[in-house]
Amino acid sequence: MKVEFFRHNIDDGDIANVCEALKGTFLTTGAWVDRFEGELAAYSQRRFAVGVTSGTAALHLALAAAGVGPGDEVITTPLTFVATSNAIIMAGATPVFVDVEPETGNIDVSRIEDAVTSRTRAILPVHLYGAMCDMRAIKGLADKHTLIVIEDAAHALEARRDDVAPGELSSAAALSFYATKSITSGEGGAIVTDDETIRQRATVMRLHGLSKGASERYAGVYQHYDMEVFGWKYNMSNIQAALLTGQLARVESTWSRREKIYHAYRERLAGAPGVGFPAVGDDVRSGFHLFTIWVDPLRRDEILNTLSSRGVGVAVNYRPVHLARYYSETYGFRVGDFPNAEHIGASTISLPFYAKLREEEVDFVARSVRDAVA
Ligand SMILES: Cc1ncc(COP(=O)(O)O)c(C=O)c1O
Repeated sequence: MKVEFFRHNIDDGDIANVCEALKGTFLTTGAWVDRFEGELAAYSQRRFAVGVTSGTAALHLALAAAGVGPGDEVITTPLTFVATSNAIIMAGATPVFVDVEPETGNIDVSRIEDAVTSRTRAILPVHLYGAMCDMRAIKGLADKHTLIVIEDAAHALEARRDDVAPGELSSAAALSFYATKSITSGEGGAIVTDDETIRQRATVMRLHGLSKGASERYAGVYQHYDMEVFGWKYNMSNIQAALLTGQLARVESTWSRREKIYHAYRERLAGAPGVGFPAVGDDVRSGFHLFTIWVDPLRRDEILNTLSSRGVGVAVNYRPVHLARYYSETYGFRVGDFPNAEHIGASTISLPFYAKLREEEVDFVARSVRDAVA
């Protein structure tokens, strides 16, 4: 048996939507994007959504729209995809890492205050694997020190904690529709926010700071545009939005299927010696984006290779960012700087986890893990 690491949920209805978009005049940002943004804002219980080309673009744009820039420090976690801290650098700011909780892998909120300096401008928490950080505590700290909060919710479209949704207690949350995300356009992303100024700035800055997008310039009589502010080329296309619209309508049913698979894995791996799991608190509704096991760091790569050679698709989410060559060379980070992130980064293995995973595949993966660890 071979079990892919990921299989998407795109169905014939989604393909028909893309065909319809392709038959229309506007392939770039237009009516499909407007519709998707409206439906995404409603699902996210936020006032606005702004569609962009990737989660990385969403993070960069949210930081820039919130006014983070050169000279600023942004506090974040080292246990994330490099996109998180790269977006801080793209905004011209400096990433400042704070170690993670050993139980969850999320940024340790109790250590954030020690990292605040006179240059700190923002906190950028990441809801790792889909389990949300304590946004009430982060918001409390941010208010105390007058800091901006931008959430990396790339894993957390469906997540809540203590009834708080991504984007609810922050300036904005960034979502990703990358190939392995719960709804995907191959590449894609969005900002969700309640802040009218962030929405307005992000909408202008996602298209070179232009005063009018293509669908407005060509509606009726040609209209000139101005470049009002500096911006980037991050606008979502109608093709991407058409592919996402139907998936978003099914997002809760595909989430429910992943929730079942999560519990099936936990049941089948319960008591397996040498297999640990990140904690998910009782007040957390996880986005169930990744199913991760933690094994002996000295044996992780051997177990990873055994699983891989038995036909189980695996990944590592993540090795800590501060020890990536660029970060250690540029900022002088060393082994030992963030021990919890390093320990988890050396222990972690992500298993296949998606709505299309069949019962017998879950059994096969769980059996393979037990065998490989034993
Ligand atoms: C935690 C996290 N942040 C940011 C990103 C960046 O998203 P994208 O790949 O859509 O740019 C990803 C994933 O891909 C991610 O997993």
